[in-house]
Amino acid sequence: MATIVLGICGSIAAYKAADVASSLVKGGHEVHCVCTPAALKFVTPLALHTLSRNPVICTMDDETADWMPTHITLAQKADVLAIVPATANTIACMARGLAPNVLTSLYLATRAKVLLFPAMNTLMWEHKATQENVQILLKRGHDIIGPAEDGALACGSTGKGRLVPVEQITNAILDRL
Ligand SMILES: Cc1cc2nc3c(=O)[nH]c(=O)nc-3n(C[C@H](O)[C@H](O)[C@H](O)COP(=O)(O)O)c2cc1C
Repeated sequence: MATIVLGICGSIAAYKAADVASSLVKGGHEVHCVCTPAALKFVTPLALHTLSRNPVICTMDDETADWMPTHITLAQKADVLAIVPATANTIACMARGLAPNVLTSLYLATRAKVLLFPAMNTLMWEHKATQENVQILLKRGHDIIGPAEDGALACGSTGKGRLVPVEQITNAILDRL
């Protein structure tokens, strides 16, 4: 049984992280969801708590279970950190070592395998800034899976940017264990 930290960012695709959590729990793994503040606009801690069977960490106020901050405990415990979905903002923070929230702080404190599953508008994905940040993370040894090549996006356009399918996400996480 592995410990998987599921980082969830503020994307319209965030609700799919609930399916990923459920699937990994059914596979017998320990799943801890860590949400950015923006993710809470798209998913509820209650749903993620129920499906992951563990408390959800969103802000520093949730870090009171022990004297050690939960983002440090989870960072040390994790076998895999999977960011589902990874937004342009969080990709940028991770690439540049910025830690404005619990998830990005946990990232800096972990030495677990890191996988990112981006989802965003095509122009955001193709922007030089995002592509430079992606290259930094790849060079650091992280896996970046997706976005899907083509499809209808929630923003109304068509193109590259969709989160890859849930089954592909869970398989990629399990492959890295
Ligand atoms: C309806 C809506 C959908 C959004 N979807 C995405 C998305 O899929 N990908 C993305 O990178 N940003 C998206 N954003 C913008 C992010 O929510 C915003 O950049 C936020 O600061 C990300 O914060 P986080 O990276 O800390 O989660 C969306 C914003 C709105 C209002």
